[in-house]
Amino acid sequence: TYIVGDACIKCKYTDCVEVCPVDCFYEGENMLVIHPDECIDCGVCEPECPADAIKPDTEPGLEKYAELNAKYAAEWPNITVKKDPLPEAEEFDGVENKLESYFS
Ligand code: SF4
Ligand code: F3S
Repeated sequence: TYIVGDACIKCKYTDCVEVCPVDCFYEGENMLVIHPDECIDCGVCEPECPADAIKPDTEPGLEKYAELNAKYAAEWPNITVKKDPLPEAEEFDGVENKLESYFS
C-alpha cells in the first residue's frame, strides 16, 4: 500500500484524489489518508503530490504513519474530488514533523 505521510499535514493539496483509480483517499481536517486495504499499489498518486507526502510502505520510517492511515481511513469520509488546499498550505509546505503539533 501507499501511505500519506507527515508532509500532507496542514497542506492538503488534494491533487492525489483526482488520480486514484480506486478512490481510496479519506479526509481529515488537516490531512488525507489512504485506506491500506483498498489501495492497489498503482503508484500514480505519488508524483502528483506537490508536497511529496505520499510514499510506498516499503520505505523505512513510516510505521507511525501506516498506523495512522489505517486507523483514520476507517473513520474519516471518502474524498474523490480535488478542492482548494488549506489556506496555510504554502507556509507549512516543507515544515518537518508536523504530526505532534498539527495533526487533526
Ligand atoms: Fe490510489 Fe494508486 Fe495511490 Fe493507492 S497507489 S492510493 S490505488 S493512486
Ligand atoms: Fe496531501 Fe499531497 Fe494529497 S498534500 S492531500 S497527499 S496531494
